[in-house]
Amino acid sequence: DRTIKIAPSILSADFANFGQEIQAIEAQGADWVHVDVMDGHFVPNLTFGPAMCKAIRPHIKTVMDVHLMIAPVDPYIEAFAEAGADVITAHVEAGPHIHRTLQAIRANGAKAGVALNPGTPASAVEYLLDMVDLICVMTVNPGFGGQKFIHSQVEKVKELSRMIGSRPIHIEIDGGIDPTTAPLMTDAGADVLVAGSAVFKGGSVETPEIYGQNIRAI
Ligand code: DX5
Ligand code: ZN
Repeated sequence: DRTIKIAPSILSADFANFGQEIQAIEAQGADWVHVDVMDGHFVPNLTFGPAMCKAIRPHIKTVMDVHLMIAPVDPYIEAFAEAGADVITAHVEAGPHIHRTLQAIRANGAKAGVALNPGTPASAVEYLLDMVDLICVMTVNPGFGGQKFIHSQVEKVKELSRMIGSRPIHIEIDGGIDPTTAPLMTDAGADVLVAGSAVFKGGSVETPEIYGQNIRAI
């Protein structure tokens, strides 16, 4: 399914209210819920782990899309799968054995995603195409919400789109997506748009219609 999907990142939500925030964005048209897991080692920020994912899972009616910015990854795959992740994405830069990691994700019953940092070429996934359901192109350096979109990644998405051909692989874009940058990426071939600050800005669980306006504007 290559229709455009908006995946709000709860990194920009109210951390004291994840359940209500998720219900609000889904009611306002979010297609997937993007969950950013950071370890303070692979990226310079810390967020949350499998226990939090498990706690929010009952509130998600769409797709729980878990983006692991952690190294090592393999010791935690089973826990995130058991927490109910539908998609588990690991970074190609997070260790020497991404192929094994992707096998393990599928073996645990989740869809397998591979993420590329802005400095990593598209060719890094060339020999992984039969192993993945999703390729995530980072359009900021991972670690924080609200950063500026890196334009050079448009070309990478075009290249990946050609490489993927007719294979059933999603191209997800993560970082700096707003109403200006989103069309560049959908034109280039992306179908899943992660957006944190652009979805949550100006809204709250008391004013969820602002989330709806923000989602429709993307
Ligand atoms: C960045 C995270 C993103 C982040 C995007 O490391 O992977 O998912 O939340 O936030 P915005 O949309 O604000 O750039
Ligand atoms: Zn992310």
